[in-house]
Amino acid sequence: MNSAKIIDGKALSAKIRGELKTQALEFEKAHGRKVGLAVILAGDNAASQVYVRNKIIACEETGIKSFAYYLPADVTQNKLLELIDELNSDKAVDGILVQLPLPKGLDENYILSKIDPKKDVDGFHAVNAGNLLLGNACLAACTPSGVIELIKSTGTDISGKHAVVIGRSNIVGKPVALLLLQNNATVTVCHSKTANLKEITKTADILVVAIGKKEFVRGDMVKDGAVVIDVGMNRFDGKLYGDANFEECAEKASYITPVPGGVGPMTITMLMNNTVKAANLNA
Ligand code: GUN
Repeated sequence: MNSAKIIDGKALSAKIRGELKTQALEFEKAHGRKVGLAVILAGDNAASQVYVRNKIIACEETGIKSFAYYLPADVTQNKLLELIDELNSDKAVDGILVQLPLPKGLDENYILSKIDPKKDVDGFHAVNAGNLLLGNACLAACTPSGVIELIKSTGTDISGKHAVVIGRSNIVGKPVALLLLQNNATVTVCHSKTANLKEITKTADILVVAIGKKEFVRGDMVKDGAVVIDVGMNRFDGKLYGDANFEECAEKASYITPVPGGVGPMTITMLMNNTVKAANLNA
């Protein structure tokens, strides 16, 4: 018998996208052009194709003009850098997103470092990551921003809570820990080498799981009444699984995100949010 309330990422996404549509329209009225997002997909990774399609659909829904660039898997690094250069100086483009992973042979870190930080709507550039660390205004990574919105949507006051993050990636674990800290949580970051993980997670008022292992978090790892945010997207036998065992964790948690339908929709919504924000900052 589940006791946790389900945090509906789709519904929250729809609400925020509605607000962003109004903001995008206001931008268009003030500046005589639409907010613009360039999306670059190199190669034919099936999951990336789905993500890029969903990003373009989200742009249409929000009234953002998308500029899609589909490059072959054998595109040279120079060609990709030339395109980024052009987009950096294109006044119609407010945000630039290079879909990851890039095909083999391309230096991901170097390529991302060449995106103008003001147009880095993924928040992956060292300048944005550094400003997040310093607590300065910045474009913060999308999934972590979505996680914070999901927690806040439950009415939970993050301040003073013990937040435990499982995972330390640059894309999710580290930035989500920094955002929780910015919201005055006491933050513990756990990872694959953490000793006595269960003892730590059992003290979490807020548990964010981004470790990339199917149903890694079991019910006995969750404190009664915790808010559980599951960032996992593990495909197995054609089905999508989170990093937490939903049934077991839902018996302990007060709120929990489902997979799919929790964090996933929020990532793209926060990308739209960053694009509108970048447009207004740079206009
Ligand atoms: N691949 C998987 N997630 C992401 C993301 O958030 N941004 C980009 N650019 N690529 C990804």
